[in-house]
Amino acid sequence: MQEQATLGWRHRLALLPLCLAMAAAHAASDPLAPSAGWSAYTAGQGATPPMGWNSWNAFATNIDEAKILGSAQRIFDSGLAAKGYRYINLDDGWVAHRRMPDGRLLIRPERFPSSVTAGGSSFRPFTDRLHAMGFKAGIYSDLGRNTCSQAYSPDSPDLPKGSVLEREVGLYGRIDQDIKLYFADWGFDYIKVDGCGVRAFGANEAKVRSGQYRALAPVLDMESVTRSDIPVVQAEFGQINAALRRYRPNGDFLLSLCIWGSGDVRAWGKNFGNVSRTSDDITPAWSRMLSNFDSAAKRELYAHPGSWNDPDMLFIGKGDFDAEHLVEARSHFSLWAMLNAPLLIGADLRTTPQPLVDILGNADIIALNQDPAGNQATLAYDADDLQILVKQLASGQKAVAIFNRGVTAIDVDLTAEHLKLRKDAPITLTDLWSKADTTFTNETRLHVAPRETRIFRVQGQRTLADGLYLSEMPGSVNPAVDGVTQPQADPTIFRSSFAWSGTKGPGERPMYAGWGGARADSTPYGQLLQIAGARYAAGIGILANSRLEVRNHGYRRLSAQVGVDDSAQDRARAVTFLVYGDGKLLAKSKPMRWGQPAQALNADVAGVKIIELVARTGAGGNAQLPVSWGDAALLSSARHD
Ligand code: GLA
Repeated sequence: MQEQATLGWRHRLALLPLCLAMAAAHAASDPLAPSAGWSAYTAGQGATPPMGWNSWNAFATNIDEAKILGSAQRIFDSGLAAKGYRYINLDDGWVAHRRMPDGRLLIRPERFPSSVTAGGSSFRPFTDRLHAMGFKAGIYSDLGRNTCSQAYSPDSPDLPKGSVLEREVGLYGRIDQDIKLYFADWGFDYIKVDGCGVRAFGANEAKVRSGQYRALAPVLDMESVTRSDIPVVQAEFGQINAALRRYRPNGDFLLSLCIWGSGDVRAWGKNFGNVSRTSDDITPAWSRMLSNFDSAAKRELYAHPGSWNDPDMLFIGKGDFDAEHLVEARSHFSLWAMLNAPLLIGADLRTTPQPLVDILGNADIIALNQDPAGNQATLAYDADDLQILVKQLASGQKAVAIFNRGVTAIDVDLTAEHLKLRKDAPITLTDLWSKADTTFTNETRLHVAPRETRIFRVQGQRTLADGLYLSEMPGSVNPAVDGVTQPQADPTIFRSSFAWSGTKGPGERPMYAGWGGARADSTPYGQLLQIAGARYAAGIGILANSRLEVRNHGYRRLSAQVGVDDSAQDRARAVTFLVYGDGKLLAKSKPMRWGQPAQALNADVAGVKIIELVARTGAGGNAQLPVSWGDAALLSSARHD
């Protein structure tokens, strides 16, 4: 059975759309060759992070039409809809079964009475209703034959019923048929694609051995990147992309990848969907929120308009984020806004107390999340108990969030340097909860209560008056190739004890690959950027054999101080730094080794749309080699220093 399943996958690989095959050919020939393009996902409706509501955190599989429409009605009545919350998304639990022999999916009629139409089972009346209210509608499926509740909630009364085949409700082998049903026939606008079907149905699983489900050889493994078959998963997402284009040719769709940071998806999810989950599920526990936040917080260069990091849905309304915990609820909301995370409400809004609805409706904070520049906040100060996140806005202003993760109040010195603003000019902070303004020069002291996040819009004079550091514009910098050849778990992500497994077993191990990925103002392994003893407060840290794509936005010059970072272990290999503009070589360094002072690179990028920054080294050496693009910036002036 397992063998057959594997053959099935291989067969499907051969059906990859031509463009994917061509991209693979490009990558196989020379992944560092300039592509003159932007390879992250831009199809669909992800120009800003999706906002809306999802049924899972509030109801799990115990969903029905009244619950969903009740929450939608509150979004409408409370004014949240007018503030941008527009996707109303069904999660797991809606399917009755797959009809045989034609394979059409049937909706649970007792839960969705409007689906019982003359022509059979259809969500069209439901989506029509949502559309008439001004909303968009979202649906849930899985990469495999079965969903996550079938994998992990065996006792749920809400699971699909019927024969083994009738209970196979996922996309595996059915992509064209199901995407057509969801988008062309039923009128959905958003799909979340989960991955339990390709993770939890191996031949040795009890639920498979008992004959309850068919085996599908797992291609994802939460605990081990090396046991994941990444090309197979990518191929299936590629087919889903193609089906969405087929059945929504006007591009009015949103694709949400949900493989929880497994399979190194934090490096490549940005190429396949509008949002991509960076971790396992959030729970309404402070410590779990920290884990989910951490899984995305250092992935600032992997999120862009069209392709966002997704640390999971909001849990405002329950547990540590209920109406008795407004400090925590405000923190959760502020942090998700700063990360450009999807703002998907996970509460039963029919009963949510108004103070929590007011948090979700803070228009100033929503505006940070929806800022058109699409820059995820970067970490200006990082410690286990306190972090300062700074976000560059399209207006030229900034936002800053000061996040006290711990249990002790902290008096924080916020400095002009954290903000990359001049210390001799006034800086004005607008508190986005109280709306109060304060002005200071150089630095100011702020009291931050336990678990509080102080969040401000910031006006001041930029240290770099003539342009932007690339690390201030991560939404326009895409690590197309980040140099990571052996993905490793990021040890800096908070390892909370999982609520659903208690404390049985050996505890949480570092599990989310991403360590060694490209970073803003940091080396790939969290050190400060430094070349031959010279520190760079701004810049991009990345491994050698990497290629960054940068959207230009009308600047005239790219300038950087390049070299092998002092943190590199390999002192022998030489790295050449190259700058391309729309595919043409514009500047090239001499071969640089560890300990050599930085070389200045300047490139005339006037009129160029896509700049590419390549750091190339030969084969050999057994350590990954951190290199630094120190002070890398796009400037308005053409003058070369
Ligand atoms: C997974 C996902 C959740 C939710 C459930 C549904 O756990 O990560 O967000 O969709 O499945 O079963």
